[in-house]
Amino acid sequence: SAREMLALPGKNIIGKSYKDILSLSKYGEISKSIELGIQKKYRLSDKEININSGAQDTALALSLSPLRQSNNKFSGLIVVLDNLTQLIKAQKIAAWKEVAQRVAHEIKNPLTPIQLSAERIIKHLKKKKGKPDEIIDDGANTIVQEARTIKALVDEFSNFARMPKVHMQSTDIHEIIEQAVSLFKGLFKDIEFDVLYSLSVPSPIQTDPEQMKRVFINILDNAIHAMNKKGEIKIQTSFEKKEQRVKIEIADSGHGISLKDKGKLFLPHFSTKKKG
Ligand SMILES: Nc1ncnc2c1ncn2[C@@H]1O[C@H](COP(=O)(O)OP(=O)(O)O)[C@@H](O)[C@H]1O
Ligand SMILES: [Mg+2]
Repeated sequence: SAREMLALPGKNIIGKSYKDILSLSKYGEISKSIELGIQKKYRLSDKEININSGAQDTALALSLSPLRQSNNKFSGLIVVLDNLTQLIKAQKIAAWKEVAQRVAHEIKNPLTPIQLSAERIIKHLKKKKGKPDEIIDDGANTIVQEARTIKALVDEFSNFARMPKVHMQSTDIHEIIEQAVSLFKGLFKDIEFDVLYSLSVPSPIQTDPEQMKRVFINILDNAIHAMNKKGEIKIQTSFEKKEQRVKIEIADSGHGISLKDKGKLFLPHFSTKKKG
């Protein structure tokens, strides 16, 4: 599993020295820590180390414990590596949601008195006899309207943070894919859909059909945009028996995603489009 975590090349790493295995510069921080650990025979817990290998960053926690024989002589070092990447990803999303909700709350709070005051001004003007003051009336109306717009915007923003509830249902996943595909089939004549449904995929499965459909629609929408509305979209399903998992692969003949952008794909609001 260390090999997986570190994305180590080569097969036979058992019995080799850590120096040979971790000779690449991206592992420099790890091997330096281990070397120091052996020299100074010290204990280290959960030192955070980031490794960057092309498309993906991996965050690791490194712990060292010196081993001592009964006569207190140093006899080695236990090195423990923990992969923190998933944890950090989850923490980032949680942090984002909290920020979104707090910002939404702070913006909405003063909006209500602004709106109410403007409405009061309008009412007051209506009651007054004689020629109404147009500038004040117009201004107050604009304030009411724009405040309403901001409120709606903020609501949308905090909806993102709340994420819709999941409604699990018995679902034929192939049917959901088919519904999404047929939406686009009629609209884009220059796109060829090559869909392969595997009979090994169980039906029904438990999932949220509405949200899954939205997922497929969004992915297909991205694909079509990346292909300039021309080309081929391949969809293939399969069932991974061991993991009890349905796999759905979608590929398009568009321009693809740069390595640099790949790591950012799951950040909220990441987009390379003008109106993304
Ligand atoms: N099929 C694809 N081919 C190339 N790039 C893609 C594809 N799907 C998504 N992307 C990239 O990922 C970004 C984020 O996609 P998304 O979250 O759907 O937001 P949006 O489509 O609004 O930009 C896109 O702006 C685009 O750069
Ligand atoms: Mg999109």
